[in-house]
Amino acid sequence: MKGILLAGGNGTRLLPLTLVGSKQLAPVYDKPMVYYPLSVLMLTGIDDVLIIARPAEIGLFRKLFGDGSRLGMRIDYAPQEQPQGIADAFLVGARHIKGEDCALILGDNLFHGARLPSLLRRTVRELRGCALFGHQVAEPRHFGVAEIDAKGQLISIEEKPDHPRSNLAIPGLYFFDDTVTDVARGLRPSVRGELEITDVLRAYLAEGRADLVWLGRGVTWLDAGTHESLLDAGRFVRDIQHRQGICLGCIEEIAMYMGFIDAEACYRLGAEMKSSPYGQYVMRSARAHQLNPTPSKFLEE
Ligand code: DAU
Repeated sequence: MKGILLAGGNGTRLLPLTLVGSKQLAPVYDKPMVYYPLSVLMLTGIDDVLIIARPAEIGLFRKLFGDGSRLGMRIDYAPQEQPQGIADAFLVGARHIKGEDCALILGDNLFHGARLPSLLRRTVRELRGCALFGHQVAEPRHFGVAEIDAKGQLISIEEKPDHPRSNLAIPGLYFFDDTVTDVARGLRPSVRGELEITDVLRAYLAEGRADLVWLGRGVTWLDAGTHESLLDAGRFVRDIQHRQGICLGCIEEIAMYMGFIDAEACYRLGAEMKSSPYGQYVMRSARAHQLNPTPSKFLEE
C-alpha cells in the first residue's frame, strides 16, 4: 500500500505563524508536526510515501527526510501548485499511487492510542473500497461528519454541516482501493471551489463500498490547524511523554520496530541528535531493543 501525506494549504488559520513557513513543520512540542502523521503511515506498515506540499516548501520537507532511506523508507515529494482541495492529492499523486491501494493522511492530524497500530493494520486487511474513521467530538460542525444507523452502518457523510446529524467527526486519515484516482478525476469542485474529500467518500458510499471504523475511547485524535489546537496538541504530547516516559511520533523508533531499519541504524540516528532529549530517547530505545528484541510494543494485537 502507498501513502500520501498532504502537507500543503495556505495555513491561513495559523497566520502570522505561517507567513514564511509551512504549518506542518511548526513544532508540536519537541518535533515538527509532520512527524506525527508520518508515524501513523509507518505504523500501518507503509514504507513508500509521497509528501505533497506547496512548491516553495518542498525543499524544506526534502531537507528533513531526504529520500527516506535513513528510515528504511522511500519518501518522494510533489508540489501542489494551488490548494485546490484535499482530494486533489489523488491527482497530484496519481503517478505515485499507480494502481495500488493507498492511505491519505492530512499533515496536521495527530493520532495516539495503544489500539491504533492493530486497528490500522486490520483496516488495511479488510479494505473493500474505502475506509474512514469516526471519532466522537463535542463540536462536529468543524469537520466532516458521519452518520450511522442503528446497526452502526455508515449512511451519510457531510462536510462541516451547520446542523450535524451526529457527533461523529471524520478524522483526516483514509484508506482507498486502487480506483481512487478515477473517482477523484470524476469530481467537480464544490461551492468553495475545492475537490472535497467528502465527495470522494460519498462516491464510495453510493456504491456501498465505504466502511466506517469506530476509533473509540482508546484512541485520541487531534487536529492542529488553529492556534488553540496547536497548543493543545503540544500540551497533550508533552503530558503523555513526561508521564509515561515514551515518545509520540518518534519516527526513528517506529522505523526500527516496524523492521524498516535495524537497532544499530536507529542508534546512529539518535546519536546525531544526542544533545537533545529526543536524540537520547532514540538511543536508549535502540539499545533496549538490542538487549530485548521482543515483539514490538507497537505491534500488540
Ligand atoms: O482534520 C479533519 C478534517 O480535515 C476532516 O474532518 C474534513 O472532512 C476535511 O475536509 C478536513 O477539514 P479541514 O478544515 O481541516 O481542511 P483544511 O482545508 O484545513 O485542510 C486540511 C489539511 O490539508 C491542511 O493541513 C492543509 C492541507 N491541504 C488542504 C487543502 C484544501 C492541502 O495540502 N491542500 C489543499 O488543497
